[in-house]
Amino acid sequence: MAEDRSQQGLLASFRLVIIGILVVIIVPALAFIIAAIGRSIVADPSDTAPVALDNSNTCVACHRKTTPGIIEQYSRSSMAAANVTCQNCHEVEAGYPGGIAHHGSFVLTVPTTAKCATCHQNEAAQFNASRHGLPAYVAMWGAGGLSEAHLAIYESIPEGSFNPDRMRNALFEKEGRAITKFACSGCHDIGAPAADGSIGQCQECHLRHEFSLEQARKPETCNHCHIGPDHPQYEIYIESYHGIAYLTGGDDWNWDAEPGTLTVADFPAPTCATCHISGFGGASTTHDVGDRLTWYLFAPQSQRRPAWQDNQVRMQAVCSECHSAAFIDEFYVDADALTEEINRRVQLSNETIAPARQAGLLTDEPFDQPIDFVHFDLWHHWGRTAKFGAWMGGPDYVQWHGAYEILRDQAELEEMVRELLEESDLAGSSAADGS
Ligand code: HEC
Ligand code: HEC
Ligand code: HEC
Ligand code: HEC
Ligand code: HEC
Ligand code: HEC
Ligand code: HEC
Ligand code: HEC
Repeated sequence: MAEDRSQQGLLASFRLVIIGILVVIIVPALAFIIAAIGRSIVADPSDTAPVALDNSNTCVACHRKTTPGIIEQYSRSSMAAANVTCQNCHEVEAGYPGGIAHHGSFVLTVPTTAKCATCHQNEAAQFNASRHGLPAYVAMWGAGGLSEAHLAIYESIPEGSFNPDRMRNALFEKEGRAITKFACSGCHDIGAPAADGSIGQCQECHLRHEFSLEQARKPETCNHCHIGPDHPQYEIYIESYHGIAYLTGGDDWNWDAEPGTLTVADFPAPTCATCHISGFGGASTTHDVGDRLTWYLFAPQSQRRPAWQDNQVRMQAVCSECHSAAFIDEFYVDADALTEEINRRVQLSNETIAPARQAGLLTDEPFDQPIDFVHFDLWHHWGRTAKFGAWMGGPDYVQWHGAYEILRDQAELEEMVRELLEESDLAGSSAADGS
């Protein structure tokens, strides 16, 4: 018995030693391995060492002193690692439109799409074929001022010339350049032509000089422009299930994954870029943000886009990485029905004000009568918002910032038209009285 016990004691302490060894060696080793795997899956850009930019490059040597921030940012970009130089984007020959003389060479202060296109032809071509290109610019200025070459590009964009939104152009005139330079242009210059004739501002999404995929893929990048009462896509996204997944789990997503290789392992839920830009599932990467859309949702009354069936296939290829075909089909049927219902309500508002227009009680001048604003808000804010809310998963925007406001504005329009007609009747009858 005593022998047994001491043997057991020996065995027990032997076990303890083994467990001790396990704890001391294997646990840290495991922790190390897990951490290493974690790092390779979640490549945090702040962990990636900046590349040392070559001081024999004259721009680098001098700008290290004058604008160290730019050197620091650029050294973190994958383009710096690929030996793309300051000159590749900035330097131009003498006489190049917009070039300025600078320490023995000529540079562009703001490199244009033409410079990016020397290496990124596809991205530039897709961008030019999208409403982020010239259509965004024409939305403010109209097509009248375009050069012949630009007009030809504009007209070649299948979804480009759709521009019924004259009311909005009217605001551009009405507010004046002192204001619109900071307002409309702050968003719509994404498609402005540059002095060299090339179109658009890639840096609206690829903030200089890091050119970070993580930054471009995050919804906050789109938030600069896709917000507000008339196109609250960011707010809608944030309250959608997709946005909740992003807000609560996004820290662990693989933001720097190689473009064109993204799967649900990298992104368990989509961001704006996943649905509209990234290669994902059966859809390949595109800088044409209209490539997957079926309706002109921004229009007062939405119509189908050219080749909308093909676009739908591409968008649904994204959804179907995470949802079943039956789920997606049902979703599209329901969202189509909502879009048509909003069309009908906007049509009703047009019919409501028609008698006042026929009676000559509405001036031709836009935005000079209270009724103009109510009629505009009904489709431009609430109609759009209800549609966007349905298509991108924000019930609050469908309801309280959408359908409810449409009902309220419709009631107000009916009241306003009734008053206008009554006043003109009174004026008419008193004129007939001769008083
Ligand atoms: C000898 C020093 C020196 C060299 C070499 C140099 N720069 Fe500069 N650069 C400056 C200074 C100084 C400024 C002005 C900074 C300021 O206003 O704070 C400047 C401004 C700029 C600007 C902004 C211009 C503007 O009008 O806003 C750009 C773009 C630029 N440099 C690019 C380059 C590029 C590209 C090269 C290489 C081809 C280069 N620089 C070479 C010193 C230099
Ligand atoms: C991939 C293209 C690209 C490369 C490479 C590049 N830049 Fe730029 N740079 C830009 C763009 C685009 C802008 C304009 C951004 C804007 O105004 O929003 C810019 C703007 C600037 C400005 C003006 C900033 C200001 O606020 O006045 C300076 C200075 C400048 N770059 C210096 C450099 C230097 C130095 C290098 C090399 C270390 C470099 N750039 C490399 C694209 C590039
Ligand atoms: C001289 C050729 C050249 C020019 C000019 C150039 N790029 Fe690049 N760019 C590259 C190369 C090469 C890569 C690939 C880097 C890699 O994947 O390792 C790249 C990668 C990128 C990426 C992806 C970054 C990533 O982490 O995968 C973006 C975004 C980008 N460029 C934007 C621009 C923009 C915007 C401009 C113009 C302002 C521009 N580039 C001008 C050569 C160029
Ligand atoms: C905060 C950014 C922002 C501001 C400021 C802004 N817009 Fe827009 N605008 C957008 C976005 C984003 C869309 C696209 C909405 C969509 O497609 O659903 C748009 C759509 C439009 C459209 C409809 C599309 C088209 O091409 O016909 C017109 C017209 C328009 N804007 C004109 C203007 C005018 C004029 C101003 C200034 C009075 C202005 N916008 C101010 C971001 C902005
Ligand atoms: C509306 C925002 C937006 C604009 C504007 C934009 N990009 Fe991008 N770009 C993105 C996003 C998002 C990605 C990442 C795509 C992905 O997830 O794979 C990207 C990726 C890229 C890449 C890497 C693509 C690849 O397959 O390796 C290049 C290069 C690039 N952009 C160049 C440009 C150029 C050049 C322009 C201007 C003509 C431009 N971008 C304008 C959002 C934008
Ligand atoms: C600098 C402002 C700006 C930024 C940043 C921006 N957009 Fe846009 N976007 C616009 C404007 C302006 C329009 C409307 C152009 C028009 O129809 O006239 C638009 C239109 C669109 C459209 C509708 C295109 C169509 O064919 O009707 C989509 C989709 C879109 N943007 C997606 C995005 C995504 C995704 C991002 C972020 C990765 C983004 N945008 C970033 C300004 C911006
Ligand atoms: C789950 C995928 C998904 C996400 C995430 C998403 N969208 Fe959309 N988006 C859609 C669908 C689907 C439509 C409507 C498509 C149609 O017309 O068939 C749409 C419509 C739009 C439109 C309207 C274009 C028009 O016709 O007026 C814009 C602009 C837009 N999205 C921008 C964004 C922005 C910005 C974000 C992020 C803040 C975002 N989207 C997030 C799927 C998505
Ligand atoms: C990368 C994966 C992914 C993609 C791509 C994706 N979704 Fe989702 N979706 C999710 C997740 C995760 C949820 C939250 C699931 C839940 O309800 O628990 C969700 C939820 C939804 C919901 C709400 C479901 C409910 O229970 O109310 C709708 C509607 C939806 N998605 C539509 C779409 C559409 C339409 C597309 C394509 C335009 C799309 N999704 C693309 C991952 C994805």
